[in-house]
Amino acid sequence: MRPIIPPFPTARPRRLRQSPGIRRMVRQNTLSVDDFIWPIFVRSGEGIEEPIPSMPGVIRRSVDKAVEAARDAHALGIPAMCIFPYTALEERTEDCAGAWDPENHANRAIRAIKQAVPDMVVMTDVALDTYNINGHDGFVENGEIVNDRSVEALVKMALSQADAGADIIGPSDMMDGRIAAIRQALESAGHQRVMIQSYAAKYASAFFGPFRDAVGASGALTGDKNTYQIDPGNSDEALRMIERDLNEGADMVMVKPGLPYLDICRRVKDTFGAPTFAYQVSGEFAMIQAAAQNGWVDGDKVMMESLMAFKRAGCDGILTYFAPAAARLLAAQQ
Ligand code: PBG
Repeated sequence: MRPIIPPFPTARPRRLRQSPGIRRMVRQNTLSVDDFIWPIFVRSGEGIEEPIPSMPGVIRRSVDKAVEAARDAHALGIPAMCIFPYTALEERTEDCAGAWDPENHANRAIRAIKQAVPDMVVMTDVALDTYNINGHDGFVENGEIVNDRSVEALVKMALSQADAGADIIGPSDMMDGRIAAIRQALESAGHQRVMIQSYAAKYASAFFGPFRDAVGASGALTGDKNTYQIDPGNSDEALRMIERDLNEGADMVMVKPGLPYLDICRRVKDTFGAPTFAYQVSGEFAMIQAAAQNGWVDGDKVMMESLMAFKRAGCDGILTYFAPAAARLLAAQQ
């Protein structure tokens, strides 16, 4: 594409910016509630809604409250939710058996939401960190995060989520070979319709900090995730991971974090044209909320501008903690 701009004053680019109507008419990208996947945190108990201090405005909910949240989200037109479990330190184990327990609170939430709001698309998280005593996404043996044994556990976890009624399995663990293994297991178990959204381009990021508080992993995590998540200096590697996961059977792919990695989103969309999602992660959310709470930025405007950035970068959708607030704002603008 080669844009043509004749010399001034033949060209006065400001002509196309002169009124709200014309700006709307020539706007290239739009944001809609259809673009949102809303991540929520579920925990044990009943009637519980507890704030997460490092994510102002985000709460952990017991399963009954998660169902209420799903009803509200559905009423707002939000098409999909992603379920993350909070697990206290004393509930975590070395064998991570809770991860594939059909009765763990994530699986109970999936079942309850699909029963109460069948139209809600429910996505999961596949990784051991929310059950692991050491906070890692795979098993740790002699200080090493082992791959193949972790994949076997991740397959069991994914199957338990599909059995609970999940629509989209979301492996966020970054082990090698897990997409093929999960796809094959889903096919064999009769879950042909269950989709996989691979966290294929997931970076070793400090922007996940508040999330680790939210799921109870911060205190647990020993060391870092640099041996399995992508180095922030790399760009081509993300493309190789996306290609691999699409070849292994991912129906859609994700780039994570979001805003600091929009260059990756654009490259992925242009290269593969697959359904491409970005995760506006906890740290991105927390920064905007903190600045807004201090009155340093206009929170609503920055939220909407940040979400639009993902559309401009080529994303088909966004996992964002802002989903309900943004949906409300979009509805009010109608
Ligand atoms: C865990 C997982 C993480 C996030 C989603 N799934 C954290 C991590 O890898 O440490 C981060 C989400 C966020 O920061 O909002 N497998």
